Amino acid sequence: MRTTLVICKPDAVERGLAGEILARLEHKGLRLVAAELRTIDEATASRHYAEHEGKAFYADLVEFITRGPSLLVVVEGPPDTWKIVRTMMGATNPAEAAPGTIRGDLASTLTENLVHGSDSAEAAEREIGLFFPALA
Ligand code: RTP
Ligand code: MG
Repeated sequence: MRTTLVICKPDAVERGLAGEILARLEHKGLRLVAAELRTIDEATASRHYAEHEGKAFYADLVEFITRGPSLLVVVEGPPDTWKIVRTMMGATNPAEAAPGTIRGDLASTLTENLVHGSDSAEAAEREIGLFFPALA
């Protein structure tokens, strides 16, 4: 799987960091395949984060991801591009994310951690289908 889904979350758009995040991905050598600024609706957010339904942080997560526009992006690169993106994102908790990563350099809270990236080839395929059905 050479493509993966990246979401510059509402905090990234609000803080004017979507361009910085895209620039990092482009400088790494990944190519933009599709991009759209869109406010994710609740139904789509629940499908996207279905694995977290029932967890204590689920309601906050859905409220946050739907609160304003996100920049939805499909990027392409070598096989397993999703792994490259995950490495560049850094750990989920910005307090643990290494310097040099997007979250390590630019984020400071667990919920508002700027960016989403598919975490497997299967997730990449599913999430691209969810947000960009025309590409699937
Ligand atoms: P994402 O799906 O957003 O790319 O983030 P991720 O894979 O790094 O982390 P994941 O485990 O999928 O969690 C999704 C989002 O839920 C929030 N979260 N809060 N213990 C907690 O309070 C907790 N754990 C996760 C984070 O905002 C994370 O990005
Ligand atoms: Mg995740």
